[in-house]
Amino acid sequence: MKHFLNTQDWSRAELDAVLAQAAAFKRSKAGDQLKGKSIALVFFNPSLRTRTSFELGAFQLGGHAVVLQPGKDAWPIEFGVGTVMDGEAEEHIAEVARVLSRYVDLVAVRAFPKFQDWSVDREDTVLRAFAKYSTVPVINLETITHPCQELAHALALQEHFGTRDLRGKKFVLTWTYHPKPLNTAVANSALTIATRLGMDVTLLCPTPEYALDERYLGWARDNVAESGGSFRMSHDITEAYTGADVVYAKSWGAIPYFGRWEQEKPIRDAHKHFIVDEAKMALTNNGVFSHCLPLRRNVKATDAVMDSPACIAIEEAENRLHVQKAVMAALANK
Ligand code: CP
Repeated sequence: MKHFLNTQDWSRAELDAVLAQAAAFKRSKAGDQLKGKSIALVFFNPSLRTRTSFELGAFQLGGHAVVLQPGKDAWPIEFGVGTVMDGEAEEHIAEVARVLSRYVDLVAVRAFPKFQDWSVDREDTVLRAFAKYSTVPVINLETITHPCQELAHALALQEHFGTRDLRGKKFVLTWTYHPKPLNTAVANSALTIATRLGMDVTLLCPTPEYALDERYLGWARDNVAESGGSFRMSHDITEAYTGADVVYAKSWGAIPYFGRWEQEKPIRDAHKHFIVDEAKMALTNNGVFSHCLPLRRNVKATDAVMDSPACIAIEEAENRLHVQKAVMAALANK
């Protein structure tokens, strides 16, 4: 069964085809690729962009989307194997995924980490269980990676630079401040796609404790070996920003502090100066700025940066619609 759990599972040719189809959908939004087909969108966490763009995307291709929020408007689900289900959950993923597969042609899942134990969260249990039991393709709507965001960002960069070939661009993935510890998913994904596309990637973060999980650092190294780009980590803001073509910002919690966030808080609060501002952007090579959104203005990035012509975050958000239509069309018609 072909799923879309991570871009790393798809060949470069498959990703290029999705990006080309997304660009075509952007030029002409209507299609019949999902005519008579349907998708279940299973949300364990809130969303503005993902939910809206998937629902509309299915509609624009002649399909239908059903949104389910387990524990709210659908039964709470158990994911453990062999669990005696005498707690909150009313049904098991073994039934949920197989029943949904009898109704719909695609299942898509958003399930953020629990932020208590990274060794547990990194197993991506919810998404993996849907993929295990579903008999239709499963799409990742953001768990510990966010592959749809990756493709939307890639398309926005291709549009901005006027070329599909992004090799040699200097890409800075910068940690930025947020009062709470956030998911590493978008950072993992940005690192994955930027190295896959052959860019020269710098991961800028406050201290070595903010390094991403070794799985994604390994993907970056593998991608660089194949694509011819480069990858390094830096804790020096000025050095990292200087000459950058792309600045991509995200905040995330330091992995060693999962489950003891009160100890991470002073470190995080000492790095509010990682905010993306005009002074830092002035160091770049007339660089472009983006963020997955939602974004707290004047915490993660200043008003001046968000409102500048260099900011392509809105373009990237629009591209979610186009790339997801391309992903749905590719999977539904296999
Ligand atoms: N970027 C993103 O996934 O946005 P939402 O959380 O609003 O879906």
